[in-house]
Amino acid sequence: MEIKEILITSQEIEIAVDNIARQLNEHYKTDQPVIFVTILKGAIVFASDLMRKLNFPITLDFISATSYGSSTKTSGVVKILKDLDTPIENQNVLLVEDIVDTGLTLKYLKEILMARKPKSLKLCALLDKHSRREVDLDVDFLGIKIPDKFVVGYGLDWNEQYRYLSHICVVG
Ligand code: IMP
Ligand code: MG
Repeated sequence: MEIKEILITSQEIEIAVDNIARQLNEHYKTDQPVIFVTILKGAIVFASDLMRKLNFPITLDFISATSYGSSTKTSGVVKILKDLDTPIENQNVLLVEDIVDTGLTLKYLKEILMARKPKSLKLCALLDKHSRREVDLDVDFLGIKIPDKFVVGYGLDWNEQYRYLSHICVVG
């Protein structure tokens, strides 16, 4: 797999992140801290840019799940590799993801987190491969719709490679 083209430039990403931050700032008019949960590893770059544009208090936690092996196809199996450190019962939780593809990962994480009875749970993702959706899922805050192409950069990887790129690129 090698880089074929730039799909979304870093300037375009910044505009999308600004937009999401504006929506979050509008939504969370609360003094109660929101637990900002970054889904490892892909969402770390997005999350670190996004959190610095927020104007309400957050605390950070991380969760790691995988539905992918080393290929670009979903296995359909979602496994928790690292759970949250903090209890979320009666807390406002924002789950931050890099990309929604089939939707299996976010749907599964939403279900296990909802079982812990948070006060609220909202989903946020930078990229949306809508044509690939296999499950019904409402994502509350979405950035950019992209075509059914495998993308890397800005945190996203192919086989752990290319996460450090500042543009989002198509590999093939
Ligand atoms: P889903 O469970 O099929 O929605 O897949 C979500 C996960 O698959 C994301 O957290 C990504 O890590 C990974 N993924 C899906 N599409 C891509 C892509 O185009 N590039 C890199 N990772 C992807
Ligand atoms: Mg991933």
